[in-house]
Amino acid sequence: MKAFVIDRYGSSNVVRASEMPEPELRDDDVLVQIHAASVNPLDLKIRSGALKLVLPYRLPLILGNDLAGVVVRVGARVRSFKPGDEVYTRPGQDRIGAFAEYIAVREDTLALKPATLNMEDAASIPLVGLTGWQALIEKANLKKGQKVLIHAGSGGVGTFAIQLAKHLGAYIATTTSAANRDWVKRLGADVVIDYKHTDFEAVLHDYDVVLDTQGGATLMKSISVLKPGGKLISISGPPDPDFARASGAPWFVRVAMGMLSYRIRKLAKRHQVSYVFLFMSANGEQLQQIAELIDAGTIRAVVDKIFPFASTPEALDYVETGRAKGKVVIKVCA
Ligand SMILES: NC(=O)c1ccc[n+]([C@@H]2O[C@H](COP(=O)([O-])OP(=O)(O)OC[C@H]3O[C@@H](n4cnc5c(N)ncnc54)[C@H](OP(=O)(O)O)[C@@H]3O)[C@@H](O)[C@H]2O)c1
Repeated sequence: MKAFVIDRYGSSNVVRASEMPEPELRDDDVLVQIHAASVNPLDLKIRSGALKLVLPYRLPLILGNDLAGVVVRVGARVRSFKPGDEVYTRPGQDRIGAFAEYIAVREDTLALKPATLNMEDAASIPLVGLTGWQALIEKANLKKGQKVLIHAGSGGVGTFAIQLAKHLGAYIATTTSAANRDWVKRLGADVVIDYKHTDFEAVLHDYDVVLDTQGGATLMKSISVLKPGGKLISISGPPDPDFARASGAPWFVRVAMGMLSYRIRKLAKRHQVSYVFLFMSANGEQLQQIAELIDAGTIRAVVDKIFPFASTPEALDYVETGRAKGKVVIKVCA
């Protein structure tokens, strides 16, 4: 089958088209013919080797963390899917490889795709949808009437998280640049802050939750937006000790990871708020619940650009600009 792989870590030039063997099917696996995949900044971090201590992949590696397609074959123990089903998934992090014609994924990471979405829109959802769900529902327990700040409301994660927070009944502030203001408001944001001209920490106060997608100075400044008891959930900041423990990384990496978040945890404690790092995980059941919200018209896909399969490296380059408005999709199957 055709696939886009890396043989070594690096930048844009290490991604190449290749003929790869079709994936083997284990008993609890489902073989999916991929119709569309989407690109995430995670693909760039994997490509560069930035995550190799926590995600030690064997090379050559097929890139790609998000897909929609049609079930071709199922393993002996699979009960919930059959050939012909239209599905979508963020495969387990040990089973990635969406920039390819076929993939074998564990049954428990798969869900029927939203019936109202085409393959390209469906492929845009899993990773950012699960991230939004796990941040706002699992970690933050966001409730009706609470105030949430979502950084980068125009990005892949932000566009989904705003819509989910709206559905949960929250009051939403978000940061993005001025050109995105109106359409991000239409997604459900109550307050839009142009991060290039306004300091969000000067105008937002007494928030219950911040979803940080930026790390660095944005993460540190987000503390002052929260009221006592508030929650700072970061998907881009330093890993916390709980994540380090659960990561399975070597002990010296776990210690180093814990130390990286020392400063933000200390600052959070001083302000009587909590700091949590989230690394999203694959979850077919949550994807099924997300599909229901989409089919009910509560959440829609926000796709910026669709690239043909042959232009997969260009799709990665586009995401690398950091300017995507929603998601970037690759149409694998014409
Ligand atoms: N830990 C996890 O499980 C997890 C899961 C998903 C994503 N992530 C990480 O979260 C980050 C965001 O992911 P994504 O998919 O949403 O990225 P993305 O789609 O590439 O984000 C692009 C958007 O970010 C906006 N942006 C850039 N700098 C900004 C700033 N300083 N303030 C506010 N908005 C800004 C841009 O708007 P403008 O063009 O207006 O600047 C653009 O619309 C990435 O670092 C990704 O790796 C982590």
